[in-house]
Amino acid sequence: MEKVLLQMKGIEKEFPGVKALDGVSLNAYEGKVMALLGENGAGKSTLMKIVSGVYKRTAGEILFEGKPVHFKNTRESQEGGIAIIHQELNLIDHLTIGENIFLGREPRNAFGVIRWKALYEEAEQLMQSLGMRENVKAKVADLSIGKKQMVEIAKALSIHAKLIIMDEPTDALTDKETESLFAVIRALKAQHKSIIYISHRLKEIFEICDDVTILRDGTFIAESPVSEMDESRLIEMMVGRKLEDLYPRLEVEIKAPILEVKNLKNKHIRNINFNLREGEILGIAGLMGSQRTELAKTIVGAIASESGEIFLRGTRKRFKNTGEAIENGITYVSEDRKGDGLILSMSVKENMSLSALKKMSVAMVINKREESEKTESMIESMSIKTPSVNQRVKNLSGGNQQKVSIGKSLLTGPDILILDEPTRGVDVGAKKEIYELMNQFKKKGMSIIMISSEIPEILGMSDRVMVMHEGTVSGILEIKEATQEKIMKLAIGSREDLN
Ligand SMILES: Nc1ncnc2c1ncn2[C@@H]1O[C@H](COP(=O)(O)OP(=O)(O)OP(=O)(O)O)[C@@H](O)[C@H]1O
Ligand SMILES: [Mg+2]
Repeated sequence: MEKVLLQMKGIEKEFPGVKALDGVSLNAYEGKVMALLGENGAGKSTLMKIVSGVYKRTAGEILFEGKPVHFKNTRESQEGGIAIIHQELNLIDHLTIGENIFLGREPRNAFGVIRWKALYEEAEQLMQSLGMRENVKAKVADLSIGKKQMVEIAKALSIHAKLIIMDEPTDALTDKETESLFAVIRALKAQHKSIIYISHRLKEIFEICDDVTILRDGTFIAESPVSEMDESRLIEMMVGRKLEDLYPRLEVEIKAPILEVKNLKNKHIRNINFNLREGEILGIAGLMGSQRTELAKTIVGAIASESGEIFLRGTRKRFKNTGEAIENGITYVSEDRKGDGLILSMSVKENMSLSALKKMSVAMVINKREESEKTESMIESMSIKTPSVNQRVKNLSGGNQQKVSIGKSLLTGPDILILDEPTRGVDVGAKKEIYELMNQFKKKGMSIIMISSEIPEILGMSDRVMVMHEGTVSGILEIKEATQEKIMKLAIGSREDLN
């Protein structure tokens, strides 16, 4: 018989204007991983913030080890044996890895002085158990998002909790880092720990989870062993309808090149030669670290180029910054929506119109009515879940923040859109909405560069696939000849046996 560690029953949570949770139940079992699934805005993170004392529930009961609990903050839930890895990273950039891991819980001697040696030794052990070789005395600021995520995970492990909650932990991890994390999860299971695991990557649910709980629109839909589920059933329960044809590829007439890149070079990239044609989706595949983001940023002027040329409709261009690129009709949508995509403390409306301001202002006066109208119609066409355009972006669910970031770029009215990991952290239903939007784009004769680490998405939506390896183009494939295998081979830099 499975031993229940955590039992949540009839949980309700109301925010002003939003009923985020309505009668939700969730169990976590000893030595097991419970997946928590649902679309963007379904209430997953809110439910986890309630268990860990970040939010107060409006109603409902929580039993931990059979006893009712009411944690008022994360310190209390930590002391009670619960650790949470939040979807938004909570690290302090100017502190070291070790300091971040033990923040507020530093080992101290009898006089209350921090025992630095012990702190760094333990930090090092924790990082090593995650397969990380970083210097634990290095500042967190210099780490990649993936590595920052690993520090968050180390922090959760350092609490030695009985229940560990992971809210989209692999969102920014490389495949190798994900493997290390899964090895840690298996070790935790063997120690009879209990884990709640949130992810939009269904493949991971089948790989690492034992049971699954599904939420939809703040309500409880089902709990089931993963072994009794298949992918299409899970999707149907999450979305509430059958989702056929996940990649709605659209064939349009592809015309002349609109963008040509010749011998582009800087410290990240070299020998970059390719073009983008009108009406085309050019997928860019490659492993993490293949410098795809750096290429995009070099094209739009966010990173300077040392040599090489960019032609837009045959005219040579050199953008000094992204503002100039936008004025010329090229908009880049960042993969790091929290870092350089959005201003979290501002409203949905303010964020959406930020980069489009120029187009909507007359003599430096923002046309307020136009701003509202355009934003509202964008929210509707993208199905962004928010009580109003005036909601602060930080109060939206993670996936809806991503949609705001894309919507914001669409409002600049670009001819060329560069999307960097457009569906990361986005649920299946919303993914399809983003693909449909891309199709509408193609129909209007616009062009898209889509950087993606998901090969099915690359194969499903691109007209051509360019593969990068260590800062260079290792191959360009027509979609008809592209396969997962060929892309993987090019991504690891091997060009043999291509055909
Ligand atoms: N602090 C808050 N103030 C107001 N509304 C909030 C707040 N936090 C969450 N919400 C709302 O509650 C609902 C559930 O959000 P939650 O973040 O729990 O979704 P989620 O299932 O984690 O989604 P995602 O997969 O996108 O991360 C959303 O409608 C969200 O806008
Ligand atoms: Mg969430």
